[in-house]
Amino acid sequence: MQRVPEPELMDDAEQARAYAEADFAEPHQAFVTYFQERFPRHRPQRVVDLGCGPCDVTVRFARAYPDCQILALDGSEPMLAQAHALLAGAQMLERVTLVQRSLPDLSSVGHDRDTLISNSLLHHLHDPLVLWRTVHALAVSGAVVQVMDLMRPPSRSAVLHLVEAYASDAPDVLRRDFANSLSAAFTPTEIVAQLAEAGLALRVEVVSDRHVLVSGQL
Ligand SMILES: C[S@@+](CC[C@H](N)C(=O)[O-])C[C@H]1O[C@@H](n2cnc3c(N)ncnc32)[C@H](O)[C@@H]1O
Repeated sequence: MQRVPEPELMDDAEQARAYAEADFAEPHQAFVTYFQERFPRHRPQRVVDLGCGPCDVTVRFARAYPDCQILALDGSEPMLAQAHALLAGAQMLERVTLVQRSLPDLSSVGHDRDTLISNSLLHHLHDPLVLWRTVHALAVSGAVVQVMDLMRPPSRSAVLHLVEAYASDAPDVLRRDFANSLSAAFTPTEIVAQLAEAGLALRVEVVSDRHVLVSGQL
């Protein structure tokens, strides 16, 4: 099935609210567990979360690594408003700094990160190399990277099957976004080619029926 790109930013207030209220506990906690399994000796200090959205992954990561400070970056103002509320409730405002930037804009963002994480951003980007160039730009030598995203199913019927399997009770706006995101996602083969073009030696693994994980140390 051909890729169908979707808008980059989730900057509609209703869309951001529905996304922030959705239950992504299982894949988001799995994101943290995958990181712990792949980098058991790494101690994150200066982390960036690219496309942080409402910061549910960010908060889970911060709880797993109490010594780190996280720069949480997103281009969407409504998403960052959701993130601010979540961080305040979790008493994380001192450890997580929100910054509004639309990649590839990295103005005034320090290029000193020892850890780069990103969940569900890649499929939003019209040019996926923007993410991989950002990794190059922000990371110090030896930095650890973990990116997780949806992967594109082979057919429209496979998309609808996943929406039924994982979002049957979700609001319409979320079901629509999930179908659009699956259709906009990249295949593992496409991601391998992106990494080769970007000169990044990272590992690509299929970790569920809908997720692909990219990880490694620079
Ligand atoms: C599907 S959400 C994922 C949010 C969060 N990482 C999570 O896992 O819940 C994708 C986020 O990426 C943001 N985004 C998309 N394109 C972006 C860009 N070019 N620069 C910065 N943020 C972007 C969107 O605004 C949205 O908040």
